[in-house]
Amino acid sequence: MDKFLVRKATIDDAYWIASVNANTRHTTYKWLMPQKVLETRLGTIPEKAEKIKNSIQKNDRFLVAVNLENNEVIWMLSYGPSRDENYPNDWEIYAFYVLKEYQKLGVGKSLFLAWIQELLNLWYNNMILNVLDWNNAIWFYQKFGWVVVWEKYEPCGKIMIKENVLHFNNIENIKN
Ligand SMILES: CC(C)(COP(=O)(O)OP(=O)(O)OC[C@H]1O[C@@H](n2cnc3c(N)ncnc32)[C@H](O)[C@@H]1OP(=O)(O)O)[C@@H](O)C(=O)NCCC(=O)NCCS
Repeated sequence: MDKFLVRKATIDDAYWIASVNANTRHTTYKWLMPQKVLETRLGTIPEKAEKIKNSIQKNDRFLVAVNLENNEVIWMLSYGPSRDENYPNDWEIYAFYVLKEYQKLGVGKSLFLAWIQELLNLWYNNMILNVLDWNNAIWFYQKFGWVVVWEKYEPCGKIMIKENVLHFNNIENIKN
């Protein structure tokens, strides 16, 4: 992983965070979400970037990985307090996206494990995250030992979509 640098995001990364997010959603969720929702996201990257800039200024937690060969942001992660009323004391991964060209090369796994080490230093413990139904990325998380604890439906454009809530009880036990 010497080719990639993981670091806390700065406001200069905001546009690229929004771009990685919108583009990876577009390639991954093509058959899982209304096309219109995905295209709107792609068309509103600048607006989304402004919101992310404000969040970074407020110290919200965004991380990026940069390809040192071309300075491209190839991965974004955002996390913070749980928004799920069933897990009010946990931490939640809000977004975890590796650009399509860099997927399945071991990048996600190394970045994830490096980040977990950081969290352990901060005494973080239990975590949740939502994975869209039929997104086989769920296997990525299950390999680390996350388990599905809950299913919920969220509005998405004009339809409701199903999400699986995954929980990890004590990140010290994450398998690598
Ligand atoms: C899911 C994601 C973060 C994984 O990152 P990655 O760099 O592609 O994964 P890695 O190459 O590090 O794979 C680690 C392991 O997970 C497995 N894996 C990764 N993605 C997988 C997928 N979509 N389906 C099945 N297995 C997967 C790999 O086979 C590998 O297994 P191994 O350790 O036994 O060899 C990345 O593919 C991604 O961003 N996908 C699209 C967006 C997305 O769905 N994000 C998650 C939203 S909740």
